[in-house]
Amino acid sequence: MSTLKVSEGAPKDDVLVLGLVSTNDKGGLAIESGDLAIDTKSLLISLGDMGATGAADEITKLPGNSVRLIVFTGLGKKSKTYSHETLRRAAGAASRSLSGTDSATVALPTSDIASLSAVAEGAALGAYVFSEFRGSTKSDQKAAIKTITFYSKFATSAEAKTVLSRAKIIADYTFLVRDLINTPPSHLTPDSFTKKIASAVRSAGGLKAGLKISVLDEKQLKSQGFGGIIGVGQGSANPPRLLHISYTPKSTVNKRFAFIGKGITFDTGGLALKPALGMEAMKSDMSGAAAVCAATIAIAALKLPVAIETWAPLAENMPSDKATRPSDIITIFGGKTIEVLNPDAEGRLVLADAIVKAQAGKNKLDGIIDVATLTGAQVVALGTRTSAVMTNNDDFSAEFLVATARSGEQFWPMPLPVELRASLDSPVADMANIGDRNGGMLVAGLFLKEFVNPDLPWLHLDIAGPAFNVAKAHGYTPVGGTGIALRSLVALVEGV
Ligand code: BES
Ligand code: MN
Ligand code: ZN
Repeated sequence: MSTLKVSEGAPKDDVLVLGLVSTNDKGGLAIESGDLAIDTKSLLISLGDMGATGAADEITKLPGNSVRLIVFTGLGKKSKTYSHETLRRAAGAASRSLSGTDSATVALPTSDIASLSAVAEGAALGAYVFSEFRGSTKSDQKAAIKTITFYSKFATSAEAKTVLSRAKIIADYTFLVRDLINTPPSHLTPDSFTKKIASAVRSAGGLKAGLKISVLDEKQLKSQGFGGIIGVGQGSANPPRLLHISYTPKSTVNKRFAFIGKGITFDTGGLALKPALGMEAMKSDMSGAAAVCAATIAIAALKLPVAIETWAPLAENMPSDKATRPSDIITIFGGKTIEVLNPDAEGRLVLADAIVKAQAGKNKLDGIIDVATLTGAQVVALGTRTSAVMTNNDDFSAEFLVATARSGEQFWPMPLPVELRASLDSPVADMANIGDRNGGMLVAGLFLKEFVNPDLPWLHLDIAGPAFNVAKAHGYTPVGGTGIALRSLVALVEGV
Protein backbone atom coordinates (compact mmCIF):
# COMPACT_ATOMS: atom_id res chain seq x y z
CA MET A 1 0.00 0.00 0.00
CA SER A 2 1.35 3.42 -1.01
CA THR A 3 2.03 6.17 1.49
CA LEU A 4 -0.40 9.06 0.97
CA LYS A 5 0.53 12.68 1.69
CA VAL A 6 -0.93 16.10 1.09
CA SER A 7 1.03 19.29 0.37
CA GLU A 8 0.70 22.82 -0.98
CA GLY A 9 4.42 23.42 -1.49
CA ALA A 10 6.08 23.31 -4.91
CA PRO A 11 6.01 19.67 -6.14
CA LYS A 12 9.28 17.96 -5.19
CA ASP A 13 8.69 14.65 -6.96
CA ASP A 14 10.09 13.71 -10.35
CA VAL A 15 6.60 12.92 -11.58
CA LEU A 16 3.56 15.19 -11.74
CA VAL A 17 0.03 13.95 -12.48
CA LEU A 18 -2.41 16.39 -14.11
CA GLY A 19 -5.89 16.13 -15.60
CA LEU A 20 -6.58 16.48 -19.31
CA VAL A 21 -10.00 17.35 -20.76
CA SER A 22 -11.50 18.01 -24.17
CA THR A 23 -13.05 21.45 -24.67
CA ASN A 24 -14.96 20.89 -27.93
CA ASP A 25 -15.56 18.42 -30.77
CA LYS A 26 -12.63 19.76 -32.78
CA GLY A 27 -9.84 18.35 -30.68
CA GLY A 28 -9.59 21.27 -28.27
CA LEU A 29 -7.79 20.39 -25.03
CA ALA A 30 -7.39 21.94 -21.59
CA ILE A 31 -5.33 20.96 -18.56
CA GLU A 32 -6.97 20.61 -15.15
CA SER A 33 -4.32 21.02 -12.47
CA GLY A 34 -6.55 21.84 -9.50
CA ASP A 35 -4.89 24.15 -6.99
CA LEU A 36 -1.53 24.07 -8.80
CA ALA A 37 -0.83 26.96 -11.18
CA ILE A 38 1.07 25.87 -14.27
CA ASP A 39 1.98 27.28 -17.65
CA THR A 40 -0.04 25.16 -20.08
CA LYS A 41 0.67 26.65 -23.49
CA SER A 42 3.57 24.52 -24.75
CA LEU A 43 2.20 21.44 -22.98
CA LEU A 44 -1.09 21.77 -24.88
CA ILE A 45 0.77 21.98 -28.19
CA SER A 46 2.71 18.79 -27.40
CA LEU A 47 -0.44 17.02 -26.20
CA GLY A 48 -2.15 17.92 -29.48
CA ASP A 49 0.84 16.58 -31.41
CA MET A 50 0.66 13.35 -29.39
CA GLY A 51 -2.98 12.89 -30.40
CA ALA A 52 -4.23 13.08 -26.82
CA THR A 53 -8.00 13.53 -26.43
CA GLY A 54 -8.55 13.76 -22.68
CA ALA A 55 -10.92 10.78 -22.74
CA ALA A 56 -11.44 8.77 -19.58
CA ASP A 57 -8.80 6.06 -19.11
CA GLU A 58 -6.39 7.79 -21.48
CA ILE A 59 -2.88 8.28 -20.07
CA THR A 60 -0.41 10.52 -21.90
CA LYS A 61 3.15 11.01 -20.65
CA LEU A 62 5.30 14.02 -21.54
CA PRO A 63 8.72 15.16 -20.33
CA GLY A 64 8.44 18.23 -18.08
CA ASN A 65 10.64 21.22 -17.29
CA SER A 66 10.66 21.58 -13.51
CA VAL A 67 9.67 17.90 -13.14
CA ARG A 68 11.05 14.95 -15.12
CA LEU A 69 7.74 13.52 -16.25
CA ILE A 70 4.17 14.77 -16.49
CA VAL A 71 1.40 12.17 -16.59
CA PHE A 72 -1.89 13.41 -18.04
CA THR A 73 -4.98 11.46 -17.07
CA GLY A 74 -8.23 11.91 -18.98
CA LEU A 75 -11.25 13.45 -17.22
CA GLY A 76 -13.50 13.53 -20.30
CA LYS A 77 -15.28 16.74 -21.30
CA LYS A 78 -14.31 20.02 -19.63
CA SER A 79 -16.69 20.95 -16.86
CA LYS A 80 -16.93 23.25 -13.84
CA THR A 81 -16.92 20.25 -11.54
CA TYR A 82 -16.12 16.58 -12.03
CA SER A 83 -18.04 13.73 -10.43
CA HIS A 84 -16.27 11.93 -7.62
CA GLU A 85 -16.19 8.73 -9.64
CA THR A 86 -14.64 10.54 -12.62
CA LEU A 87 -11.91 11.83 -10.31
CA ARG A 88 -11.48 8.45 -8.62
CA ARG A 89 -11.06 6.65 -11.95
CA ALA A 90 -8.70 9.25 -13.43
CA ALA A 91 -6.51 9.23 -10.32
CA GLY A 92 -6.57 5.41 -10.34
CA ALA A 93 -5.62 5.16 -14.01
CA ALA A 94 -2.67 7.48 -13.30
CA SER A 95 -1.34 5.61 -10.27
CA ARG A 96 -1.84 2.30 -12.09
CA SER A 97 0.36 3.60 -14.92
CA LEU A 98 3.08 4.58 -12.43
CA SER A 99 4.14 1.13 -11.22
CA GLY A 100 7.91 1.11 -10.90
CA THR A 101 7.95 4.80 -9.87
CA ASP A 102 8.94 5.84 -6.38
CA SER A 103 6.81 8.93 -5.91
CA ALA A 104 4.52 11.36 -7.70
CA THR A 105 2.60 14.55 -6.97
CA VAL A 106 -1.04 14.52 -8.07
CA ALA A 107 -2.69 17.86 -8.94
CA LEU A 108 -6.28 17.25 -9.99
CA PRO A 109 -9.40 19.42 -9.54
CA THR A 110 -10.20 19.12 -5.82
CA SER A 111 -12.06 22.31 -4.97
CA ASP A 112 -13.78 20.67 -1.99
CA ILE A 113 -12.66 18.11 0.56
CA ALA A 114 -14.97 15.40 -0.87
CA SER A 115 -13.21 15.71 -4.23
CA LEU A 116 -9.84 15.38 -2.53
CA SER A 117 -11.22 12.29 -0.81
CA ALA A 118 -12.23 10.79 -4.18
CA VAL A 119 -8.84 11.55 -5.77
CA ALA A 120 -6.98 10.05 -2.80
CA GLU A 121 -9.16 6.94 -2.82
CA GLY A 122 -8.79 6.42 -6.57
CA ALA A 123 -5.04 6.95 -6.56
CA ALA A 124 -4.61 4.57 -3.63
CA LEU A 125 -6.85 1.91 -5.24
CA GLY A 126 -4.95 2.09 -8.53
CA ALA A 127 -1.61 1.44 -6.85
CA TYR A 128 -2.08 -2.34 -6.66
CA VAL A 129 0.19 -5.11 -7.89
CA PHE A 130 -0.24 -8.82 -7.12
CA SER A 131 3.20 -10.41 -7.27
CA GLU A 132 3.15 -12.98 -4.46
CA PHE A 133 3.43 -15.93 -6.82
CA ARG A 134 6.01 -14.48 -9.20
CA GLY A 135 8.95 -16.64 -8.22
CA SER A 136 12.06 -15.95 -10.27
CA THR A 137 10.34 -13.24 -12.33
CA LYS A 138 9.26 -11.26 -9.30
CA SER A 139 12.08 -8.75 -9.64
CA ASP A 140 11.08 -8.12 -13.29
CA GLN A 141 7.62 -7.01 -12.23
CA LYS A 142 7.30 -3.37 -11.36
CA ALA A 143 6.16 -2.60 -7.83
CA ALA A 144 3.25 -0.27 -7.17
CA ILE A 145 4.10 3.42 -6.70
CA LYS A 146 5.39 3.97 -3.16
CA THR A 147 4.45 7.55 -2.23
CA ILE A 148 1.66 9.72 -3.62
CA THR A 149 1.43 13.41 -2.65
CA PHE A 150 -1.79 15.28 -3.36
CA TYR A 151 -1.35 18.93 -4.15
CA SER A 152 -4.15 20.74 -2.34
CA LYS A 153 -5.04 24.01 -0.66
CA PHE A 154 -6.48 21.83 2.14
CA ALA A 155 -2.97 20.58 2.95
CA THR A 156 -2.90 21.90 6.51
CA SER A 157 -6.55 21.16 7.37
CA ALA A 158 -7.58 18.43 9.77
CA GLU A 159 -10.11 17.16 7.23
CA ALA A 160 -7.32 16.40 4.76
CA LYS A 161 -5.71 14.12 7.34
CA THR A 162 -8.99 12.30 7.96
CA VAL A 163 -9.64 11.91 4.26
CA LEU A 164 -6.17 10.45 3.62
CA SER A 165 -6.32 7.99 6.49
CA ARG A 166 -9.76 6.87 5.31
CA ALA A 167 -8.42 6.38 1.76
CA LYS A 168 -5.61 4.27 3.17
CA ILE A 169 -8.01 2.05 5.11
CA ILE A 170 -10.28 1.62 2.07
CA ALA A 171 -7.31 0.70 -0.14
CA ASP A 172 -5.70 -1.59 2.47
CA TYR A 173 -8.85 -3.69 2.85
CA THR A 174 -9.74 -3.60 -0.85
CA PHE A 175 -6.24 -5.01 -1.43
CA LEU A 176 -6.96 -7.75 1.11
CA VAL A 177 -10.07 -8.70 -0.91
CA ARG A 178 -8.13 -8.60 -4.20
CA ASP A 179 -5.25 -10.65 -2.75
CA LEU A 180 -7.63 -13.32 -1.44
CA ILE A 181 -9.40 -13.54 -4.82
CA ASN A 182 -6.15 -13.65 -6.80
CA THR A 183 -4.64 -16.33 -4.55
CA PRO A 184 -5.08 -19.68 -6.35
CA PRO A 185 -7.11 -22.47 -4.71
CA SER A 186 -3.88 -24.44 -4.23
CA HIS A 187 -3.01 -21.77 -1.66
CA LEU A 188 -6.46 -20.68 -0.51
CA THR A 189 -8.58 -23.39 1.09
CA PRO A 190 -11.50 -22.89 3.49
CA ASP A 191 -9.08 -23.40 6.39
CA SER A 192 -6.35 -21.07 5.10
CA PHE A 193 -8.97 -18.42 4.31
CA THR A 194 -9.94 -18.35 8.01
CA LYS A 195 -6.26 -18.06 9.00
CA LYS A 196 -5.63 -15.16 6.64
CA ILE A 197 -8.66 -13.32 8.02
CA ALA A 198 -7.62 -14.10 11.60
CA SER A 199 -4.24 -12.57 10.87
CA ALA A 200 -5.86 -9.43 9.36
CA VAL A 201 -8.08 -9.15 12.46
CA ARG A 202 -4.99 -9.38 14.69
CA SER A 203 -3.16 -6.72 12.65
CA ALA A 204 -6.19 -4.43 13.00
CA GLY A 205 -5.93 -4.69 16.80
CA GLY A 206 -8.24 -7.64 17.44
CA LEU A 207 -10.25 -7.31 20.65
CA LYS A 208 -8.85 -3.82 21.23
CA ALA A 209 -10.52 -2.76 17.99
CA GLY A 210 -13.76 -4.52 19.00
CA LEU A 211 -13.18 -7.50 16.70
CA LYS A 212 -13.82 -11.13 17.66
CA ILE A 213 -13.39 -14.11 15.38
CA SER A 214 -14.44 -17.75 15.63
CA VAL A 215 -14.44 -20.72 13.28
CA LEU A 216 -16.53 -23.89 13.09
CA ASP A 217 -14.71 -26.88 11.54
CA GLU A 218 -16.26 -29.74 9.56
CA LYS A 219 -17.01 -31.83 12.67
CA GLN A 220 -18.82 -28.98 14.39
CA LEU A 221 -20.66 -28.08 11.18
CA LYS A 222 -21.88 -31.65 10.84
CA SER A 223 -22.96 -32.10 14.45
CA GLN A 224 -24.70 -28.71 14.55
CA GLY A 225 -26.67 -29.36 11.38
CA PHE A 226 -25.12 -27.16 8.70
CA GLY A 227 -26.23 -29.44 5.86
CA GLY A 228 -25.68 -26.86 3.12
CA ILE A 229 -22.02 -26.18 3.91
CA ILE A 230 -21.32 -29.88 4.53
CA GLY A 231 -23.18 -30.97 1.38
CA VAL A 232 -21.21 -28.59 -0.81
CA GLY A 233 -17.85 -29.21 0.88
CA GLN A 234 -17.98 -33.00 1.25
CA GLY A 235 -16.53 -33.73 -2.19
CA SER A 236 -13.26 -32.00 -1.36
CA ALA A 237 -10.15 -33.06 0.54
CA ASN A 238 -10.09 -29.48 1.89
CA PRO A 239 -12.90 -29.53 4.47
CA PRO A 240 -15.39 -26.65 4.86
CA ARG A 241 -15.49 -23.98 7.55
CA LEU A 242 -17.89 -21.37 8.88
CA LEU A 243 -16.07 -18.18 9.81
CA HIS A 244 -17.69 -15.65 12.13
CA ILE A 245 -16.41 -12.13 12.85
CA SER A 246 -18.19 -9.79 15.20
CA TYR A 247 -17.42 -6.11 15.46
CA THR A 248 -18.73 -4.25 18.50
CA PRO A 249 -18.00 -0.51 18.46
CA LYS A 250 -16.38 0.96 21.58
CA SER A 251 -18.78 3.89 21.28
CA THR A 252 -22.56 3.74 20.95
CA VAL A 253 -24.18 1.13 18.72
CA ASN A 254 -26.47 2.96 16.28
CA LYS A 255 -27.48 -0.16 14.39
CA ARG A 256 -26.62 -3.82 14.02
CA PHE A 257 -26.16 -5.48 10.64
CA ALA A 258 -25.35 -9.05 9.63
CA PHE A 259 -23.12 -9.59 6.59
CA ILE A 260 -22.98 -12.97 4.84
CA GLY A 261 -20.48 -13.73 2.06
CA LYS A 262 -20.33 -16.68 -0.32
CA GLY A 263 -16.97 -18.37 0.22
CA ILE A 264 -16.47 -21.08 -2.40
CA THR A 265 -12.68 -21.24 -2.62
CA PHE A 266 -13.04 -23.04 -5.96
CA ASP A 267 -16.19 -23.90 -7.89
CA THR A 268 -15.68 -26.78 -10.30
CA GLY A 269 -19.45 -27.27 -10.44
CA GLY A 270 -19.04 -30.49 -8.46
CA LEU A 271 -20.58 -33.49 -10.24
CA ALA A 272 -22.21 -30.98 -12.62
CA LEU A 273 -18.63 -30.27 -13.72
CA LYS A 274 -18.12 -26.93 -15.46
CA PRO A 275 -16.41 -26.81 -18.88
CA ALA A 276 -12.62 -26.35 -18.66
CA LEU A 277 -12.73 -23.14 -20.71
CA GLY A 278 -12.93 -20.31 -18.18
CA MET A 279 -13.09 -22.56 -15.11
CA GLU A 280 -9.96 -20.83 -13.76
CA ALA A 281 -12.10 -17.74 -13.04
CA MET A 282 -13.92 -19.80 -10.40
CA LYS A 283 -11.05 -19.15 -8.00
CA SER A 284 -12.97 -15.90 -7.53
CA ASP A 285 -16.06 -17.66 -6.14
CA MET A 286 -15.10 -16.56 -2.62
CA SER A 287 -15.26 -12.85 -3.52
CA GLY A 288 -18.38 -12.26 -1.42
CA ALA A 289 -16.79 -13.80 1.68
CA ALA A 290 -13.59 -11.79 1.14
CA ALA A 291 -15.59 -8.57 0.68
CA VAL A 292 -17.73 -8.95 3.83
CA CYS A 293 -14.79 -10.01 6.03
CA ALA A 294 -12.53 -7.19 4.84
CA ALA A 295 -15.40 -4.66 5.02
CA THR A 296 -16.00 -5.65 8.64
CA ILE A 297 -12.36 -5.07 9.57
CA ALA A 298 -12.36 -1.78 7.61
CA ILE A 299 -15.49 -0.64 9.50
CA ALA A 300 -13.70 -1.45 12.77
CA ALA A 301 -10.57 0.40 11.61
CA LEU A 302 -12.77 3.43 10.83
CA LYS A 303 -14.35 3.06 14.32
CA LEU A 304 -17.86 3.37 12.89
CA PRO A 305 -20.71 3.18 15.45
CA VAL A 306 -22.51 0.17 13.92
CA ALA A 307 -22.22 -3.40 15.19
CA ILE A 308 -21.55 -6.02 12.52
CA GLU A 309 -21.99 -9.79 12.67
CA THR A 310 -20.24 -11.34 9.69
CA TRP A 311 -20.54 -14.93 8.50
CA ALA A 312 -18.48 -16.54 5.76
CA PRO A 313 -19.49 -20.10 4.83
CA LEU A 314 -16.37 -21.55 3.18
CA ALA A 315 -16.21 -24.69 1.05
CA GLU A 316 -14.56 -26.09 -2.06
CA ASN A 317 -17.04 -27.46 -4.62
CA MET A 318 -15.33 -30.55 -6.04
CA PRO A 319 -16.46 -33.73 -7.84
CA SER A 320 -15.50 -37.00 -6.14
CA ASP A 321 -17.01 -40.23 -4.83
CA LYS A 322 -17.91 -38.24 -1.70
CA ALA A 323 -19.55 -35.37 -3.57
CA THR A 324 -23.25 -34.56 -3.34
CA ARG A 325 -25.15 -36.22 -6.21
CA PRO A 326 -27.98 -34.71 -8.25
CA SER A 327 -31.15 -35.92 -6.41
CA ASP A 328 -29.46 -35.99 -2.96
CA ILE A 329 -31.46 -34.24 -0.24
CA ILE A 330 -29.72 -32.08 2.33
CA THR A 331 -31.03 -30.30 5.42
CA ILE A 332 -30.20 -26.61 5.82
CA PHE A 333 -29.44 -25.29 9.34
CA GLY A 334 -32.84 -24.84 10.99
CA GLY A 335 -34.52 -27.76 9.21
CA LYS A 336 -35.57 -26.92 5.63
CA THR A 337 -34.81 -29.79 3.25
CA ILE A 338 -33.39 -29.19 -0.22
CA GLU A 339 -33.27 -31.53 -3.20
CA VAL A 340 -29.94 -30.84 -4.89
CA LEU A 341 -30.82 -31.10 -8.56
CA ASN A 342 -27.68 -29.30 -9.65
CA PRO A 343 -24.54 -29.36 -7.48
CA ASP A 344 -23.28 -26.34 -9.43
CA ALA A 345 -25.98 -24.23 -7.74
CA GLU A 346 -23.93 -24.50 -4.54
CA GLY A 347 -23.62 -20.89 -3.42
CA ARG A 348 -27.25 -20.65 -2.33
CA LEU A 349 -26.82 -23.80 -0.21
CA VAL A 350 -23.90 -22.51 1.85
CA LEU A 351 -25.51 -19.06 2.07
CA ALA A 352 -28.81 -20.55 3.33
CA ASP A 353 -27.03 -22.17 6.30
CA ALA A 354 -25.26 -18.92 7.16
CA ILE A 355 -28.33 -16.71 6.69
CA VAL A 356 -30.36 -18.85 9.10
CA LYS A 357 -27.49 -18.96 11.60
CA ALA A 358 -27.03 -15.17 11.42
CA GLN A 359 -30.66 -14.65 12.46
CA ALA A 360 -30.38 -17.05 15.40
CA GLY A 361 -28.15 -14.68 17.41
CA LYS A 362 -29.37 -13.11 20.66
CA ASN A 363 -29.03 -9.52 19.40
CA LYS A 364 -31.82 -8.07 17.27
CA LEU A 365 -30.64 -7.19 13.76
CA ASP A 366 -31.59 -4.04 11.82
CA GLY A 367 -30.64 -5.53 8.50
CA ILE A 368 -28.98 -8.49 6.81
CA ILE A 369 -26.91 -8.33 3.61
CA ASP A 370 -25.55 -11.23 1.63
CA VAL A 371 -22.85 -10.80 -1.01
CA ALA A 372 -22.20 -13.53 -3.58
CA THR A 373 -20.82 -14.42 -6.98
CA LEU A 374 -24.06 -16.32 -7.30
CA THR A 375 -25.18 -16.65 -10.93
CA GLY A 376 -23.95 -16.53 -14.50
CA ALA A 377 -27.38 -15.00 -15.18
CA GLN A 378 -26.23 -11.87 -13.34
CA VAL A 379 -23.47 -11.38 -15.91
CA VAL A 380 -25.91 -11.98 -18.78
CA ALA A 381 -28.35 -9.43 -17.37
CA LEU A 382 -26.06 -6.62 -16.23
CA GLY A 383 -22.63 -7.26 -17.73
CA THR A 384 -19.30 -7.32 -16.00
CA ARG A 385 -19.30 -3.91 -14.33
CA THR A 386 -22.77 -3.60 -12.79
CA SER A 387 -23.84 -5.68 -9.80
CA ALA A 388 -27.41 -6.51 -8.80
CA VAL A 389 -29.26 -5.74 -5.61
CA MET A 390 -32.41 -7.65 -4.64
CA THR A 391 -34.45 -7.07 -1.49
CA ASN A 392 -37.51 -7.72 0.64
CA ASN A 393 -37.52 -4.05 1.70
CA ASP A 394 -37.42 -1.21 -0.84
CA ASP A 395 -36.43 1.40 1.78
CA PHE A 396 -33.32 -0.58 2.72
CA SER A 397 -32.47 -1.06 -0.95
CA ALA A 398 -32.93 2.68 -1.61
CA GLU A 399 -30.64 3.47 1.34
CA PHE A 400 -28.05 1.06 -0.07
CA LEU A 401 -28.29 2.57 -3.57
CA VAL A 402 -27.58 6.02 -2.09
CA ALA A 403 -24.45 4.52 -0.50
CA THR A 404 -23.37 2.93 -3.81
CA ALA A 405 -23.74 6.29 -5.57
CA ARG A 406 -21.30 7.71 -3.02
CA SER A 407 -18.90 4.77 -3.21
CA GLY A 408 -18.81 4.85 -7.02
CA GLU A 409 -19.63 1.14 -7.30
CA GLN A 410 -22.31 0.37 -9.87
CA PHE A 411 -25.33 -1.51 -8.50
CA TRP A 412 -28.77 -1.85 -10.07
CA PRO A 413 -32.03 -2.98 -8.42
CA MET A 414 -33.55 -6.24 -9.63
CA PRO A 415 -36.99 -7.68 -8.77
CA LEU A 416 -37.92 -10.91 -7.00
CA PRO A 417 -41.12 -11.82 -8.91
CA VAL A 418 -43.36 -14.09 -6.78
CA GLU A 419 -44.49 -16.10 -9.81
CA LEU A 420 -40.96 -17.52 -10.24
CA ARG A 421 -40.97 -19.03 -6.75
CA ALA A 422 -43.04 -22.08 -7.75
CA SER A 423 -40.29 -23.17 -10.13
CA LEU A 424 -38.23 -24.07 -7.04
CA ASP A 425 -40.86 -26.55 -5.78
CA SER A 426 -39.62 -30.12 -5.37
CA PRO A 427 -41.80 -33.25 -5.41
CA VAL A 428 -39.68 -34.83 -2.65
CA ALA A 429 -38.22 -32.03 -0.47
CA ASP A 430 -39.20 -28.58 0.85
CA MET A 431 -37.47 -26.97 -2.13
CA ALA A 432 -35.14 -27.75 -5.04
CA ASN A 433 -31.88 -25.86 -5.48
CA ILE A 434 -32.65 -24.83 -9.07
CA GLY A 435 -35.79 -23.51 -10.77
CA ASP A 436 -36.66 -21.69 -13.96
CA ARG A 437 -33.53 -21.10 -16.07
CA ASN A 438 -34.99 -17.84 -17.38
CA GLY A 439 -34.38 -15.12 -14.82
CA GLY A 440 -31.82 -17.35 -13.11
CA MET A 441 -30.46 -14.47 -11.01
CA LEU A 442 -33.93 -13.73 -9.63
CA VAL A 443 -34.67 -17.40 -8.98
CA ALA A 444 -31.46 -17.62 -6.92
CA GLY A 445 -32.59 -14.52 -5.01
CA LEU A 446 -36.01 -16.08 -4.38
CA PHE A 447 -34.30 -19.23 -3.07
CA LEU A 448 -32.37 -17.17 -0.49
CA LYS A 449 -35.46 -15.15 0.43
CA GLU A 450 -37.03 -18.35 1.81
CA PHE A 451 -34.43 -18.30 4.61
CA VAL A 452 -34.90 -14.68 5.66
CA ASN A 453 -37.38 -13.58 8.32
CA PRO A 454 -39.85 -11.47 6.28
CA ASP A 455 -39.73 -8.70 8.90
CA LEU A 456 -35.96 -8.31 8.67
CA PRO A 457 -34.75 -5.88 5.96
CA TRP A 458 -32.57 -7.93 3.63
CA LEU A 459 -30.34 -7.20 0.64
CA HIS A 460 -28.95 -9.78 -1.73
CA LEU A 461 -25.98 -8.54 -3.79
CA ASP A 462 -25.09 -10.67 -6.83
CA ILE A 463 -21.57 -9.60 -7.86
CA ALA A 464 -20.80 -12.52 -10.23
CA GLY A 465 -19.54 -10.31 -13.08
CA PRO A 466 -17.91 -7.35 -11.32
CA ALA A 467 -15.98 -9.36 -8.71
CA PHE A 468 -13.33 -10.60 -11.13
CA ASN A 469 -12.03 -8.63 -14.11
CA VAL A 470 -11.04 -10.95 -16.98
CA ALA A 471 -10.88 -8.02 -19.43
CA LYS A 472 -8.43 -5.12 -19.41
CA ALA A 473 -7.58 -2.98 -16.39
CA HIS A 474 -9.43 0.36 -16.28
CA GLY A 475 -9.55 3.32 -13.90
CA TYR A 476 -8.58 2.03 -10.45
CA THR A 477 -9.70 -1.52 -11.35
CA PRO A 478 -6.95 -4.06 -12.05
CA VAL A 479 -7.16 -7.36 -13.91
CA GLY A 480 -8.31 -10.16 -11.55
CA GLY A 481 -9.98 -9.56 -8.18
CA THR A 482 -11.56 -6.09 -8.00
CA GLY A 483 -12.72 -5.82 -4.39
CA ILE A 484 -16.26 -4.86 -5.43
CA ALA A 485 -18.88 -4.44 -2.65
CA LEU A 486 -16.43 -3.49 0.10
CA ARG A 487 -16.72 0.25 -0.53
CA SER A 488 -20.52 0.17 -0.72
CA LEU A 489 -20.81 -1.80 2.53
CA VAL A 490 -18.53 0.73 4.23
CA ALA A 491 -20.47 3.64 2.66
CA LEU A 492 -23.78 2.17 3.87
CA VAL A 493 -22.47 1.93 7.43
CA GLU A 494 -20.95 5.43 7.20
CA GLY A 495 -24.41 6.70 6.25
CA VAL A 496 -26.14 5.25 9.35
N1 BES B 1 -20.18 -19.44 -9.11
C1 BES B 1 -21.19 -19.67 -10.07
C2 BES B 1 -21.74 -18.38 -10.68
C3 BES B 1 -20.78 -17.54 -11.50
C4 BES B 1 -20.78 -17.64 -12.87
C5 BES B 1 -19.95 -16.62 -10.88
C6 BES B 1 -19.93 -16.83 -13.62
C7 BES B 1 -19.09 -15.84 -11.63
C8 BES B 1 -19.09 -15.93 -12.99
C9 BES B 1 -22.36 -20.40 -9.45
O1 BES B 1 -22.06 -21.28 -8.42
C10 BES B 1 -22.99 -21.23 -10.52
O2 BES B 1 -22.37 -22.13 -10.99
N2 BES B 1 -24.24 -20.92 -10.84
C11 BES B 1 -24.97 -21.61 -11.82
C12 BES B 1 -26.36 -21.85 -11.28
C13 BES B 1 -27.21 -22.72 -12.14
C14 BES B 1 -26.71 -24.15 -12.10
C15 BES B 1 -28.63 -22.66 -11.66
C16 BES B 1 -25.02 -20.75 -13.06
O3 BES B 1 -25.18 -19.54 -12.95
O4 BES B 1 -24.88 -21.29 -14.15
MN1 MN C 1 -21.53 -23.21 -9.08
ZN1 ZN D 1 -20.35 -20.85 -7.38
